Amino acid sequence: MQEEDLNAVSAAEAESTQHPWSRELFNDALKPHYSSWVVRKDGMLVGHAVLLAVLDESHLLIITIRPSWQGQGFGAKLLEHAAERAKLAGATQMFLEVRVSNRVAQTMYVRHGFSEIGRRKGYYPDADGCREDAIVMRREL
Ligand SMILES: CC(C)(COP(=O)(O)OP(=O)(O)OC[C@H]1O[C@@H](n2cnc3c(N)ncnc32)[C@H](O)[C@@H]1OP(=O)(O)O)[C@@H](O)C(=O)NCCC(=O)NCCS
Repeated sequence: MQEEDLNAVSAAEAESTQHPWSRELFNDALKPHYSSWVVRKDGMLVGHAVLLAVLDESHLLIITIRPSWQGQGFGAKLLEHAAERAKLAGATQMFLEVRVSNRVAQTMYVRHGFSEIGRRKGYYPDADGCREDAIVMRREL
């Protein structure tokens, strides 16, 4: 991901989730310690991911595939790419949080070696102005 991608990435994010990251957050993800990628197909932006590395741990902060491109293997490919790059950079484990309601993402993570290690109560805002728990997942690299 580069600065010139930020408008397209923010637009893709806004069409893909109810609680999108802002352009400013994506801009922060271009700074040191973060790794960020976009996926393109025939020149079209399909999705994006951001990873934060702290010592030998990596934290997947976001992974999004635009709705019209979901279910075609892009998310799985991007997840594996992020894990591979984290490992090459020296990480031995990868962490992430996922909404308890997000069964599609949970299924993808479990299929790719992640398992639940805990929950964070009220971690996410939800659509009703309430809070939703996060499942914390981890995978060895
Ligand atoms: C989660 C997300 C990134 C998955 O990307 P995707 O490109 O649609 O996923 P893939 O086609 O690579 O499928 C990967 C796995 O996800 C699961 N999956 C995908 N679509 C699914 C569906 N409709 N129902 C159930 N499981 C599904 C499957 O386990 C699939 O693996 P399989 O095909 O080997 O069974 C995408 O749905 C997305 O961007 N969602 C909105 C944002 C989001 O929730 N991000 C994750 C936040 S933690």
